[in-house]
Amino acid sequence: MEKFALPNSELEISRLIFGCWAIVGGFNWGPQDERDSLAAIKMAYDQGITTFDTAEAYGGGASEDLLAKALGEKRKDIIIASKAGPADFAPEDIKKACERGLKNLKTDYIDLYQLHWPNPEIPLEETLGALQELRNEGKIRAFGVSNFGNKSLETCKKSSFKISSNQMAYNLLFRAIEYSILPQCISDGVPVLCYSPIMQGLLTGKFSSETEVPDDRARTRHFTKERPQSRHQEDGCEELTFQTISQIKDLSKEANIPMGNLSLAWLLHQEGIAAAIVGGRNAAQVRKNAASAQLALTPALVAALNDITRPLKEALGPNADLWQSESRVV
Ligand SMILES: NC(=O)c1ccc[n+]([C@@H]2O[C@H](COP(=O)([O-])OP(=O)(O)OC[C@H]3O[C@@H](n4cnc5c(N)ncnc54)[C@H](OP(=O)(O)O)[C@@H]3O)[C@@H](O)[C@H]2O)c1
Repeated sequence: MEKFALPNSELEISRLIFGCWAIVGGFNWGPQDERDSLAAIKMAYDQGITTFDTAEAYGGGASEDLLAKALGEKRKDIIIASKAGPADFAPEDIKKACERGLKNLKTDYIDLYQLHWPNPEIPLEETLGALQELRNEGKIRAFGVSNFGNKSLETCKKSSFKISSNQMAYNLLFRAIEYSILPQCISDGVPVLCYSPIMQGLLTGKFSSETEVPDDRARTRHFTKERPQSRHQEDGCEELTFQTISQIKDLSKEANIPMGNLSLAWLLHQEGIAAAIVGGRNAAQVRKNAASAQLALTPALVAALNDITRPLKEALGPNADLWQSESRVV
């Protein structure tokens, strides 16, 4: 699998990263069998995916734990990207959070340690300084951020403690970062790692209308605020979302490329994108998704996907927070 060298680090990440959130089940995902989760992680490794994204927030450490259980003996061959939550950004707290992560992961270093969401209450420069200290101590090899918008990125740019990546929601049905965040990342030399790259399954074509989407996955701003778990105040754009999905599906049939693979490959063709972090609940899904890394799309196909998804991009606008109207991406 093709690799991408992250700046300000010695890390070479695989362009497809396995996302270890859904494999803990529970919030957002529902029941999950641990045997499927372990098989999914092992399949990712067997398919050449060497980078694994997790976070303490995923099952309160359960995701980090599963990753260690599945790939502990492969530690030297893999890159672990984990995250600290915003409540832990005070320097003394992030050091404790890192220790918890190391314990869950049963390792003595985390390759890429990321700030999960911005926390405007805590001076970012102090958090970045603490990350640099963790790096100097060998507990992390590099650090990055996630859900960082233009203002936070500006602070990162001015800091002498250099980040290696910004992890953002980005997919054919959610192109908000294209307005101003992706251009800033490109000009600052901060590669983007895309999360929810198949829009939590919607871009595989498995749901044909909004009523089929489970409530916890219908929390995003695509769906009406009337959905029980919604945390935004918007009417959503369900009709346009499913019209767009249907047009992508037609194009994928024409191109003879499964829709999820086409969606992942589209991301990997965008400027500034280092990798797509894709989840999978079982080995079969992971095997299927892994084939996307080898796909070369014609410029005409990329342009057609851009055109089809532009009305939805415009309807959802530049707010890069998938779930909330008052954007936490600052
Ligand atoms: N930094 C952040 O704030 C943040 C936020 C969200 C996610 N993330 C990271 O990004 C990773 C990926 O994002 P995500 O899990 O939200 O969404 P995703 O990767 O877009 O979607 C993953 C889900 O789609 C379904 N799926 C996957 N492959 C499939 C296939 N071939 N056919 C049919 N269905 C398939 C599975 O769920 P079902 O089988 O249940 O449909 C799977 O759990 C996470 O694991 C996490 O590491 C980070």
